[in-house]
Amino acid sequence: MRSALCEQLGIEYPVLAFSHCRDVVAAVSRGGGFGVLGATTLTPEQLEVELRWIDEAVGGRPYGVDVLVPEKLAGMERGSGFNGAALADLIPAEHRRFLDSLLKEYGIDAPATAGDDDERPPAGDMREPFAEALTGEGALRLIEVALTHPIRLVANALGAPPAEMIKAAHAAGVPVAALAGKREHAERHVAAGVDIVVAQGYEAGGHTGEIATMVLVPEVVDAVAPRPVLAAGGIARGRQMAAAMALGAQGVWTGSVWLTTQEAETHPVVKEKFLAATSSDTIRSRSITGKPARQLKSAWTDAWDGPGSPGPLPMPLQPLLVDYALHRIRRAAATGSPGAVQLVNYFVGQVVGSLDAVRPARQVLQEMVEEYVDVVAAMADGLN
Ligand SMILES: Cc1cc2nc3c(=O)[nH]c(=O)nc-3n(C[C@H](O)[C@H](O)[C@H](O)COP(=O)(O)O)c2cc1C
Repeated sequence: MRSALCEQLGIEYPVLAFSHCRDVVAAVSRGGGFGVLGATTLTPEQLEVELRWIDEAVGGRPYGVDVLVPEKLAGMERGSGFNGAALADLIPAEHRRFLDSLLKEYGIDAPATAGDDDERPPAGDMREPFAEALTGEGALRLIEVALTHPIRLVANALGAPPAEMIKAAHAAGVPVAALAGKREHAERHVAAGVDIVVAQGYEAGGHTGEIATMVLVPEVVDAVAPRPVLAAGGIARGRQMAAAMALGAQGVWTGSVWLTTQEAETHPVVKEKFLAATSSDTIRSRSITGKPARQLKSAWTDAWDGPGSPGPLPMPLQPLLVDYALHRIRRAAATGSPGAVQLVNYFVGQVVGSLDAVRPARQVLQEMVEEYVDVVAAMADGLN
């Protein structure tokens, strides 16, 4: 199991765990895997707090940080800065009306798109960490903070990482990984200077392409050799991990499986929905971020796909339009509002169908590794 990548990252098991939850990151790193903190929704100040906590919690074990810098954004260029007010002007009135009436239909007080409480700034003055981080500048500020901590990996999704990000990471001796949903993406990443490619298949939770993990991984492995490849999408247990390694990956990059762990701060209603869901209950939808992202089907995704929908806007306009509404839905769902409970959802992959119990993250990792060892031994003995 100890691949060259294990040496490079200083880990015992080649299992990388993407999570927005610092407790999951720390538990996986402490358990011998490698936690990667999703930083996109954080401000640089919040990230500093999270990383200080992780540094204390991991006791010197390695971990990494992940950001999103899309190559294509509507109404703005990479690195052009974030102007929430100017972008808000690009949102058609029809979309605002659709969202307001959707929330009303499900019993959630309008207005959906303007902050009317203390928790959010008013529309047009949305310094949303997510929208801001999407510009290369916002992400670079996050990476600069991260590089003042002993991180062992910088990862980027939705395009090749910007040159400044790669330069900053390499100057600090930190390798850079990037997610690829097609062989062409992987080739572009390598040309840009990426050290580790994450080949992420269609079945994955979050932003995802159209090629299945089984097809994608060997294509990417061959295209970028001898650079290491991590397989992602549909990996939640040892048998899937063994398949990924058989496809030529040096390790696995996982996301959904951690969402139902004890440590995960997944919304309680969403966690229950995940535990009850089957592998048919996800959909690739642009309704949250404006780019296709796999998530749980709910009244929210049905409405955006439905006959009355004007269709989601491109990134970053869709998150600017819906972020505040989603915040209200999550809050109302937590208090048991029946409409909000029907609407609420979150990113998750097709493996949601096999997530049926809440376990500590360390146990999930341990069971994955044990099943991997058993199945590889059985195959070597010709028993499978
Ligand atoms: C809730 C959720 C949020 C995600 N957000 C990001 C992200 O911000 N950046 C990123 O690189 N990948 C993100 N992903 C994708 C994961 O990094 C990973 O590639 C994916 O979860 C692997 O497939 P799996 O969900 O089948 O394990 C997200 C995945 C999930 C489930």
